[in-house]
Amino acid sequence: MCGIVGYIGPKNATPIIMNGLKKLEYRGYDSAGIAVLENGSIEIRRDAGKLDRLRQLVQESPIKGNVGIGHTRWATHGVPNTRNAHPHLGMTGDVVLVHNGIVENFSSLRDELESEGIIFQSETDSEVIVHLIERYLSGGKNLTDAVHKALLLLKGAHGIVVLSKNEPDKIIAARIGNAGGVVIGYGKDEMYIASDLPAILEHTRKMVFLESRQMAVVSREGLMVMTLDGEEIQPKVHNIPWDPVSAEKGEYRHFMHKEIHEQVRSLTDTIAGRVDFELGSIQLPSLNISPAMVKEIKKIFIIACGTASYAGMVGKVLIERIARIPVEVEIGSEFRYQDPIVEQNTVVLAISQSGETADTLAAMEEGRRKGATLWSIVNAIGSQAMRMVDGFISMQVGPEIGVASTKAYTAPLVDLYMLAILLGELRGTIDEKQRRQLVDDLRLVPDLAGRCLDREGEVKQVAESLLEAQNALYLGRGVNMPTAYEGALKLKEISYIHAEGYPAGEMKHGPIALIDADLPVVVIAPRDPWYEKMFSQIEQAKARGGRVIAVATEGDEQIQKQADLVLSVPETPWMLSPVTAVIPLQLLAYHIAAQRGLDVDQPRNLAKSVTVE
Ligand code: AGP
Repeated sequence: MCGIVGYIGPKNATPIIMNGLKKLEYRGYDSAGIAVLENGSIEIRRDAGKLDRLRQLVQESPIKGNVGIGHTRWATHGVPNTRNAHPHLGMTGDVVLVHNGIVENFSSLRDELESEGIIFQSETDSEVIVHLIERYLSGGKNLTDAVHKALLLLKGAHGIVVLSKNEPDKIIAARIGNAGGVVIGYGKDEMYIASDLPAILEHTRKMVFLESRQMAVVSREGLMVMTLDGEEIQPKVHNIPWDPVSAEKGEYRHFMHKEIHEQVRSLTDTIAGRVDFELGSIQLPSLNISPAMVKEIKKIFIIACGTASYAGMVGKVLIERIARIPVEVEIGSEFRYQDPIVEQNTVVLAISQSGETADTLAAMEEGRRKGATLWSIVNAIGSQAMRMVDGFISMQVGPEIGVASTKAYTAPLVDLYMLAILLGELRGTIDEKQRRQLVDDLRLVPDLAGRCLDREGEVKQVAESLLEAQNALYLGRGVNMPTAYEGALKLKEISYIHAEGYPAGEMKHGPIALIDADLPVVVIAPRDPWYEKMFSQIEQAKARGGRVIAVATEGDEQIQKQADLVLSVPETPWMLSPVTAVIPLQLLAYHIAAQRGLDVDQPRNLAKSVTVE
């Protein structure tokens, strides 16, 4: 997924765009570029590499103007080099464009354009769009109509921002499908455009989010929005409650480290306003549910990708145990190809931090097509997964910038726990006493998280002993089997150590052959209903010469004796134990990657939200 920023107003566009791109660099960082209208011509600076390279170019050869666009790229078509870096200029030199998404029919369009004499400068799919726009401009259309006509030819999902030196009083933005958002912010006699709101949050909180198949003509005075069917519409204006500081690193070296430590606050925030501890009840008004509707639910599909899917697996255990509703967890990239059986009274519940993950959005559309009720648990305000559903639960944990998801993993665990209690109450599968106990346990969560964070020094020491590891195995069971998957993913994606999360009970069916003194085995064994089984897992691994790092409840002497290293967590009610058990694993992955000198916030090949399928 790429980062896009645009500005039109009285100020110099260059620093606004550069600072905005910095806030979006987590979205993709293979190359970066900026185009600004200066004295009637389009000035472009762009290069492969991270934003610092672009900053150097702009310092060496400054550009100044009041209208501009910028882009950080996560390469899909064409290797990251200067020619493939956005922005892309048309052949006339009058029009320039930045693009997020994939032009699925780009090769046929490229052939057509080349047959018309167009000479391509790059291997990207995006470049076809600017040539299509110029084709219609040369046919006498104005910029708005030319962009509109070009968009109608594109297949795939797109976020596009275009400007022309011949119409310097406007920028055109458009969105097709789920290729990441296009958000437009209102300033005073100035307007901001971005693919994600952290880029412009310091300038404005008054924002409009384009829906799919909408385009906006943005001028200093405001914007006109129309659908690709040509109908002008009045978009909803959101006032965003997030403060700009939360999108900064503060005294932390990495966003990920900051966000791990934010989890006392973020868990408090995700609970806030949803629990009446006196009554022992849960309120989730934005879910728009009624007791009658809930009583009719026959099945819930939880759909998500990556870390979010592991939260969904925990959700399955909680919802089935508390509300007795059958739950199936499906990864977004598979669901829509399974011709899923979606009967009446089925709910599709999507979990997504960004709310823009293309695989998850496509699965949601499949669920909608098959008649399911759509719910979502989402963090990014105004994102597609928050807007397209019948009801949602906002994670409300503020911007998560680190590519490796942390607070946006523990928050949905608690959101799913609250959802399970509410569903159980409405369906009568738990009585008042049980409900009050479950709600009361929620009160403990932020403090328990804080106690996990207080043990960071212990985790750092364990990290030092794993710096040379080439592989690792993470074992869990029951409600903490997903904790094993999530712990392994954290290590993989930021330290590049191959780590595999595995159901502990499955080890004896083959993978136990892997265990030897060189293979660190992380065993998640807090006091939960599967504890005894997990303890014997530790003994089995030790009997085969394995090196065992155990996540264990504080004071567990038998594990202290048996395991080589222990990461202690506070005693936690078992249904909430995935919240505390994951925190040492987040810290473990972070410290291994940081001590290996890796780019923790922007791991190689990754992007914060994958808006391509
Ligand atoms: C998690 O650390 C990864 N960055 C990745 O697995 C992520 O969880 C996944 O891409 C889903 O993203 P979403 O929550 O924004 O939909």
